[in-house]
Amino acid sequence: MKAKASIQGLEPYQPGKSLEEVKRELGLTQVIKLASNENPYGCSSRVFEALETMKNRLHFYPDGSARELKEKLADHLEVDERRLILGNGSDEVIQILCRTFLEPGSESVMADLTFSRYEAGVRIEGATPVKVPLKEGTHDLEAMLAAITDQTRIVWICNPNNPTGTIVSHEALSDFLDRIPEHVLVVLDEAYHEYVTDPSYPDSISLLDYNPQIVILRTFSKIYGLASFRIGYGITHPDLIREMERVREPFNVNGLAQQAAIAALEDQSFITYCRMQNRRGIDQITRKLEELGLEYFPAHGNFVFFDAKIPGEEVFQFLLRKGLIVRTGFGPTNVRITVGKEEENDQLLQALEELIISKRGLASNV
Ligand SMILES: Cc1ncc(COP(=O)(O)O)c(C=O)c1O
Repeated sequence: MKAKASIQGLEPYQPGKSLEEVKRELGLTQVIKLASNENPYGCSSRVFEALETMKNRLHFYPDGSARELKEKLADHLEVDERRLILGNGSDEVIQILCRTFLEPGSESVMADLTFSRYEAGVRIEGATPVKVPLKEGTHDLEAMLAAITDQTRIVWICNPNNPTGTIVSHEALSDFLDRIPEHVLVVLDEAYHEYVTDPSYPDSISLLDYNPQIVILRTFSKIYGLASFRIGYGITHPDLIREMERVREPFNVNGLAQQAAIAALEDQSFITYCRMQNRRGIDQITRKLEELGLEYFPAHGNFVFFDAKIPGEEVFQFLLRKGLIVRTGFGPTNVRITVGKEEENDQLLQALEELIISKRGLASNV
């Protein structure tokens, strides 16, 4: 049996190493995972109460249209419910977008480096990814505009960008949208939206009315701490939602995830707390990077991307042996670390300092 041509050469997604995997492999009892941009504070305790109420409802199919959650979400975002589509993680909304708008012969413009699922989704549909290098770690909007052709269907803007953490400002984005041809959809992936504190960050929802061709992606996996449930969503014009609904699986968001998300949304003080702690964590991490003379990009999400100036794989293995999991593979010497709790960041920074200093010592002895 031969699989379809468009998926030949596609690598399966490589997730960060799991805690259990690392504990087993290295015989460690304590491991800190700062590799997948998860929330170190978990989720709101209200979620546990909501799950309790689901105990006797597990044999029922979930509400396929997620009416209650959509109502609450629409209220929270101050948008019309008809503008919302839910997914099994925003990963699935990315897949739905590709399935709905791409076919062989179409092109899709994205940054190089950015979130890897855009390219995978595009390729699976037999369409062509067009990659535009980042400029100082940020989307190069001028070059992305120049890469648009009559065949372009989707342009992806990851804001903040994973893995670099940089943002595109409201002004730059509005100007970009003004110059986008009508046949092109612009996806604004805002998985880390709730972490951003920079005042220049776009108020993307306010742009929806004037730009029927934008789709905003958000998720409950990051600051809401519900990654395990798999739930994310898209916000766009109702006409586009109708097209996307044609390809959505009928029960794509499970019942537990729906109830967990409703409860999590109600606890906005937890979100504010996590945002503040994250800011402190970024300051703690970047202070140490500066002390060590390591360059990093401005971090607007819940992770910091820096140049270790030694092979990333070496950093990864050294930290792993100390029970610390980070993410590499984004270029030879780059490392991405998720912001943890203060004591977790401390452990990581101490280990990193030890490695960097020992390498410098070795270099100066040569
Ligand atoms: C930029 C970005 N978009 C989307 C996702 C997918 O999130 P989820 O499918 O958990 O909602 C991630 C996860 O890391 C991400 O970093």
